[in-house]
This record gives sequence, structure tokens and C-alpha cells, in this order.
Amino acid sequence: MNVSSEFSKHALKYGSYNIIQNMVIEKLLLHVNTKPKNILDIGCGSGALLKAIDWDYDSFCGVDFAQGMLELHPKSSKIELLYADFNKDELFDEMLTCNVFDFIFSASALQWSDDLDRVFSKIKKLNAPIALAIFTSGTFKSINESASIGSILKSASEVEMLQKKYFDANFEVLNYKLEFESTREMFQYIKRSGVSGSRKVLNYKESKKLLREYPLKYLEFEVVFIYTCKR
Ligand SMILES: C[S@@+](CC[C@H](N)C(=O)[O-])C[C@H]1O[C@@H](n2cnc3c(N)ncnc32)[C@H](O)[C@@H]1O
Repeated sequence: MNVSSEFSKHALKYGSYNIIQNMVIEKLLLHVNTKPKNILDIGCGSGALLKAIDWDYDSFCGVDFAQGMLELHPKSSKIELLYADFNKDELFDEMLTCNVFDFIFSASALQWSDDLDRVFSKIKKLNAPIALAIFTSGTFKSINESASIGSILKSASEVEMLQKKYFDANFEVLNYKLEFESTREMFQYIKRSGVSGSRKVLNYKESKKLLREYPLKYLEFEVVFIYTCKR
């Protein structure tokens, strides 16, 4: 397993709660040496990946189950947005059957798969090169340890084992550290970034205690990258 790390001082003043997600997209795109024309983006959100694509494409299909995100996504005659859940077979077995893709992306979304094994098997059936980035259990490692919370995310090795069942792909782990000016800002980032998941694990009193006592001013993120070998 190839593991590396990056560090970034963030700038909350720009109201940006997706600094890491944007770094992830930048890295994902480094692994694309072709200029795919017909693109699928699973968990497309408000379109950060599409906005980062700097080549001419014929069609872009974005899938997301958050209507609010899709509303913010850029639109054009080349862009098809599907309001759908990647945990449901309907997406892969009905909605996507008429499309042919020459590249499949998914950035910072598949950690919310109910059954990653099944989602990988569905992606495999679409028969296109992939570049996937998935948050894993080293994300918020120290803060989870301080609060004695187990991560709800899969470990990097679990994801590695699963992907090997389906893809002939490179697998890389990248650890990010994001520094904050205050613990309060850091907790705000966790709440708003959409990375931590919606499951509330601490009650109000416990959260206050953690906010007071947490000794670090940075957050850790662990992301695995799975991408088809360059040809
Ligand atoms: C952290 S955001 C990343 C968005 C975008 N890919 C990016 O990199 O900026 C995760 C996205 O996955 C979507 N998502 C999570 N679970 C999903 C599911 N089961 N089906 C479809 N979309 C899902 C969320 O609505 C959200 O837009």
C-alpha cells in the first residue's frame, strides 16, 4: 500500500468547507491521462469535479441523491443530472443502462455506500476506466480517539481488499492535515464539510467537553485513491 501525506493551512474566511474535497479532485484528475468524452460522476455534489475538468467532453452524467446539491450543479445540454441513490440497484440496473461511459469518477462520496462490495461490482459492470477517491477510517483519527468514538468509515485495508476483487487498479492512501486557528473553527468545519457523516455520536455536553479539551488545532483526513493503471 503506497501511503503519502499533505499538509494544508486552511482559510475558513473564504467560507470554504470543502478544501480537502477540492484537493482530492485535483489529485484524482492527475490520474487521467486520456481526455474522456463521456463521463460519469457518482456522488457529483454541486459540480466541483465538472468545474475542474479542463478538456472538451461530449457528455457528463452526474448522480447525487441530494436535490439541493444538484440544484447548484452547472447545467448545459451536455450535462445530465440524475437524482438517484448509488445504494439502490435501480440506478445501475435501470437508470444507467442506456449510457456508455469512457470514464467513471467518484470523489469523496463512496464512503457512504451501504455495501461497498456491491457498489464496486455495479461500477465494474459499467466497464470503463475509473478514478475513485474514498474517505477512510483514519479521517478524524485523533479527535475520534479523544472522544472514544470508533470511526464509521471503512479502513484503507478493507477498501483495498474489496477493490482488488473487481478492479485492476492502482491503490494509494493519502493523509491530509488541515490546520485551524481555533478549535471552534475546526469543529465548525467538521459539521459543515459533509465528510463526517450525519450520525450524531456525541450529546451536547460531551461535544462541549471535547471542544474545551481537544489539544490539537488540526484535523486529519485519510483518503484512498483507486485508479485504473495509465495506458
Ligand atoms: C462530500 S460530497 C462530495 C461531492 C463532490 N463529489 C465533490 O467532490 O465535491 C459527497 C456527495 O455524495 C452524495 N451522496 C452521498 N451518499 C449518496 C448516495 N447514497 N447516493 C447518491 N449520492 C450520495 C452527497 O449528497 C454529496 O453530494
